[in-house]
Amino acid sequence: AENARLRAREAGSLAELEAMVAAFDGCALKRTAKQLAFADGNPEADIMLVGEAPGAEEDRAGRPFVGRAGQLLDRMLASIGLDRSRVYIANVVPWRPPGNRTPTPQEVAICLPFTLRQIELCAPRFLVTLGAPATQTLLGLKEGIKRTRGRWVEYPGLVRPARALPMLHPAYLLRQPIDKRLAWRDLRLLRRALDEEPPR
Ligand code: URA
Repeated sequence: AENARLRAREAGSLAELEAMVAAFDGCALKRTAKQLAFADGNPEADIMLVGEAPGAEEDRAGRPFVGRAGQLLDRMLASIGLDRSRVYIANVVPWRPPGNRTPTPQEVAICLPFTLRQIELCAPRFLVTLGAPATQTLLGLKEGIKRTRGRWVEYPGLVRPARALPMLHPAYLLRQPIDKRLAWRDLRLLRRALDEEPPR
């Protein structure tokens, strides 16, 4: 992990960081994954979304959120007039865990320096954490996502700190569609923040 921390700081652009992550052998997930799924969307976007880990379809495509959860995410974004050109999307681990299991805290920790540098280089105005792993890891909010979602907190790790909003993960919403109303409420918070804060 120390190794990753030192290297990540040297990445001067998202392209450099991606090449660095692709060449990094310190995370065991790389050995079972087909390929890296580093990011999707627009690196210049005001909004960065961070999920959990690539699944089977992301592993095949080499891009985050292209499977069923990703299609729901696209509909969620569309409900507030956004698409992938308006967001940058990543995960707390960039390789698929075997059988889509939850990444272990150790796997997340090994990749964390890269994830933090990815956020720093994207420098979003708004950071959306999708689900508990991203919310706990990036925002330090240890309660369950049902308690932490739907409220803005400050993400301090940037020159100009971002506002951060934990949301329910679209894969969870596919299993618990009753909770979509909560997600749609949170999406309206995001829309309002975009409308109220002029681009800097
Ligand atoms: N779920 C995630 O958290 N990330 C993906 O990229 C796909 C599904």
